[in-house]
Amino acid sequence: MASKTSIFLTGATGYIGGAVLARLLNHPSVDTFAITALVRNPEKAKILESQFGVKAVVGNHHESDKVESLAEGAHVVLNLAEADNVPFMKAILRGLRKRHDKLGDLPILIHTSGAGELADDARGEYVSNVIYDDLNVEQYKSIPETAVHRNVDLLVINADVEGYARTYIVPPTTVYDIVQHPLVEAGVSNPRSIQIPTMIEAALARKQAGVVGKGKAVSSDVHIDDVADLYIVLYDAIVANPEKVGHGWEGIYFGENGEHSWYQISKAIGEAMVALGISTDPEPPSFTTEEMVKYFGSEQWGWYCGANTRCRGNRARALGWKPKYTTEVMVKSIRREVEEISKKPPRQPPFWPGIPPENH
Ligand SMILES: NC(=O)c1ccc[n+]([C@@H]2O[C@H](COP(=O)([O-])OP(=O)(O)OC[C@H]3O[C@@H](n4cnc5c(N)ncnc54)[C@H](OP(=O)(O)O)[C@@H]3O)[C@@H](O)[C@H]2O)c1
Repeated sequence: MASKTSIFLTGATGYIGGAVLARLLNHPSVDTFAITALVRNPEKAKILESQFGVKAVVGNHHESDKVESLAEGAHVVLNLAEADNVPFMKAILRGLRKRHDKLGDLPILIHTSGAGELADDARGEYVSNVIYDDLNVEQYKSIPETAVHRNVDLLVINADVEGYARTYIVPPTTVYDIVQHPLVEAGVSNPRSIQIPTMIEAALARKQAGVVGKGKAVSSDVHIDDVADLYIVLYDAIVANPEKVGHGWEGIYFGENGEHSWYQISKAIGEAMVALGISTDPEPPSFTTEEMVKYFGSEQWGWYCGANTRCRGNRARALGWKPKYTTEVMVKSIRREVEEISKKPPRQPPFWPGIPPENH
């Protein structure tokens, strides 16, 4: 019997990671996969093992030795969590280098970054005409080292340049909608995204939708099901013919299928709040500086939610990725999100996850 493909997957309990793992468990080749997930919740680990046949190791990304050894044990690493954790990525890369040196294997690393690396300083005041195309390598190379996610992305690409791993980076844009799949139903994976739920939680806390600046900046967007498909299309293409799939500097795969202004999101939240009787005015006034610090964690993270992040995902489309959902679906999805989040016990702000200092 041929040996199985060893896959080390992170973020199984998360929004993107859960959606991708659900796809892998439904993949025609699932019987040939030996999937190991690193999760920090022991109860969720038990469910993954007992109900889904996924080997689940309980642990935290800060446990470098554990992360290194799990990466060393896998031909494929799918990092679907923590786009900004430098020590965690260094541990993954040490593991892959050891594997390469010991076995002569050329492991595959598919890493999740984010289109936040394209963010400008528009502060909601204007639409930029800068659009990043993932087939334009020089344009991608021009992103400053100080951009969000860039420190980890450069480590990943460098592993490919050094030649001990083949690396692929998926920077999703604004991923949206409440996702449904068996891992969510089993209580293992998070069904919600980050950006729109953050704007909704801030709006509910101030009892009126809000916008950063004038909300004029434009961001690309993509449905969670299309994002999950992108990873599978990419994985299948790599397995079928690795020489035909761009990697390293040529291995950037933006996930996008449309664009919205930040105002569109805020206005849709405002309209949903009026329809649900939570607010009387659908217009979103600008967040004050104090509100940005309170709801987003800092003024800087507030401005981040008013930036232009425009891109085109032509590289994944060239591999056969066919995203189905459009920005219209994104705007329509907001009412249900507002309704569901408004029924949950309110959380303490800030609502934006930010980047913990220990991850640098
Ligand atoms: N959602 C978007 O629109 C979007 C867009 C672009 C980029 N991204 C990036 O994609 C990544 C995943 O996003 P997401 O929306 O799927 O987020 P999410 O739902 O919050 O998932 C995060 C995952 O990472 C795990 N995790 C975080 N810190 C950990 C640690 N120290 N040890 C072990 N596990 C840890 C979480 O585990 P727990 O369940 O235990 O918390 C969870 O499985 C993030 O880096 C995000 O910045 C997301």
